[in-house]
Amino acid sequence: MALFSKDLGIDLGTMYTRLAIGNEIVVNEPTLVAIAVAEQKIVEVGQEALNMLGRVPDSIEVTRPLQNGVIADYEVTERLLEYLIRKASGSMRLFRPNVMITIPFGITSVESRAVHEATLSAGSREVFLIHQPLAAALGADLPIGTPSGNMLLCLGGGATQAAVLAMYGIVAGETMRAGGAALDDAIIAYTRRKYGIIIGPQTAEQVKIQIGSAIPVDQEKSMTMQGQDQVTGLPKPVTLTTGEVVEAIADPLHDVVETARRVLEKTPPELVSDIIDRGLAICGGGALLPGIEKLLTKELGVPAYLVDNPTTCTAEGAARALVPGVYAAIRRNLPGS
Ligand SMILES: Nc1ncnc2c1ncn2[C@@H]1O[C@H](COP(=O)(O)OP(=O)(O)OP(=O)(O)O)[C@@H](O)[C@H]1O
Ligand SMILES: [Mg+2]
Repeated sequence: MALFSKDLGIDLGTMYTRLAIGNEIVVNEPTLVAIAVAEQKIVEVGQEALNMLGRVPDSIEVTRPLQNGVIADYEVTERLLEYLIRKASGSMRLFRPNVMITIPFGITSVESRAVHEATLSAGSREVFLIHQPLAAALGADLPIGTPSGNMLLCLGGGATQAAVLAMYGIVAGETMRAGGAALDDAIIAYTRRKYGIIIGPQTAEQVKIQIGSAIPVDQEKSMTMQGQDQVTGLPKPVTLTTGEVVEAIADPLHDVVETARRVLEKTPPELVSDIIDRGLAICGGGALLPGIEKLLTKELGVPAYLVDNPTTCTAEGAARALVPGVYAAIRRNLPGS
C-alpha cells in the first residue's frame, strides 16, 4: 500500500457521512441525495438535499441510501461517495486516495462487500473496511492496544453497537439495527396516542434534541410545535415536556441498555473487571442525549462516560487506521472483503 497525504477515513453512517484526512474532518454531510425522478439525475447531495426533504414536488425524490447502518440503495450510495470523495480531495482530485471506510460490526458479507465495491467504484485506489467500534475506539484514543478490556457503545442514528475491545480487536460485540431514529418514532407514537396529534419525524427529532432526556430531570423544559389532528387532518399545536419525552423514549432506550448488557454477559470475567475500572465509553450522536451516561451507569453498574469527540471519533479513527504503524497493528482484525 503506497500512502498519499490525501488518503481518507470515511464513516458511512445512516444519518451522516464524515470524511477525515489525518486528524481533520474535511467533510460532514447528511447521508441524503435528491434525485430528479424522470432523468434519474442527482440534483443535490448532503445538507442541500436535507433542506429539500419534505418540501419538493413529486418530480424530485429525496432518498436516504443507507438504512440501519447498511446500504439499501447501492447506486445512490456509490454516487454519494463519489461526490463526497471528490469534495474531500479538492485540488488533489487527480490522485485516487486510499480509503478506510467503516461498516457496522456483525453485518453480512454481502452487505460489507457492497460497501467495498461502492467505495472502489466511487474513485478510490485501494479500499479497506474497518468495524465502526474499532474505528471509534482508535479515534477516541481508548487504550485498546493492550490485553486489557475496553468497552464502547456507539449510539448512531440507525444502529446501536456495543463492543469490548482488546489487542486492537473486538472480543465481544453486538449490533442492534435500531438507533436514534427509533427514539424519534417513539415520540411520534406517544404524541399520537396521548393527544391524537401527528408530528413529522424531523419535528420529533427536534423535540428529542431540544428538550429530551434519558432520565427524569428537576428542571423540566417544554416545547410547542405544530402537528396535525389525526381525525380532522387540520393543523393543531401540541406541547410536550421533558418528562413526557423521558416516558416516550423509555422502551427504545431499554433496548439499548439490553444490547450493552448482553455484550457484558458474553465478556470474559477478567476483561469485565478492567471495564468496571475504566468505564463504558459512549459515542455517536445519541451520546449527546442528556442523562444517557447516568442511565447506563445505573442500569449496568459500570460507570459510563462520553468520549471527547462523540460524533467524529469514528471517521477520525478510520483515518488513523491508515497510518502505517497503526495499520500494521490492526490489519489482522480488519474484515476481509
Ligand atoms: N443532542 C442530541 N440528543 C439526542 N440525540 C441526538 C442529539 N444530537 C444528535 N442526536 C441523534 O444522533 C443520531 C445521529 O447520530 P450519528 O451521526 O452518530 O449517526 P450515524 O453515524 O449517521 O448513524 P449509524 O452509525 O447508526 O449508521 C440521530 O438519531 C440524531 O437524532
Ligand atoms: Mg455511525
